[in-house]
Amino acid sequence: MLHNMAVNVMKNAYVPYSDFQVGVALKSTNNKFYTGCNVENAAYPQGVCAEAGAISAMVAGGCNRISEVLIVSGGKRLIVPCGGCRQKLLEFSDANTRILLATVSKVQKNLSIEELLPYAFNDTFLNS
Ligand code: THU
Repeated sequence: MLHNMAVNVMKNAYVPYSDFQVGVALKSTNNKFYTGCNVENAAYPQGVCAEAGAISAMVAGGCNRISEVLIVSGGKRLIVPCGGCRQKLLEFSDANTRILLATVSKVQKNLSIEELLPYAFNDTFLNS
């Protein structure tokens, strides 16, 4: 389910500069599904990662907890989320959140946010 959704949305990625498609599908803790793809820009830093798109859709849809998120790319190597996206995922994840990394053919890794982003800066630092 999440894998099909992510592969499908990946095909909509707007990637004229990198030609590197990324698709993300996530299930929120209230069992809704959201997707995102990367959207690049001629002004390169204005490009948006697929994870950011899916997270924005989830928050706009009224949820802010991720149950499961699947990330896929069209590349031969397994995608790993960039550092900024690890931090964005952390904001909406907890110890039960599963982060699935996939190629177009199958899911290859199933990680916790702690495995993906150890020694993370989080909201607990803000009040201490
Ligand atoms: N990209 C993502 O969408 N997510 C990631 O976690 C890694 C990188 C995109 C950004 C850019 O459009 C392309 O992949 C190449 O960096």
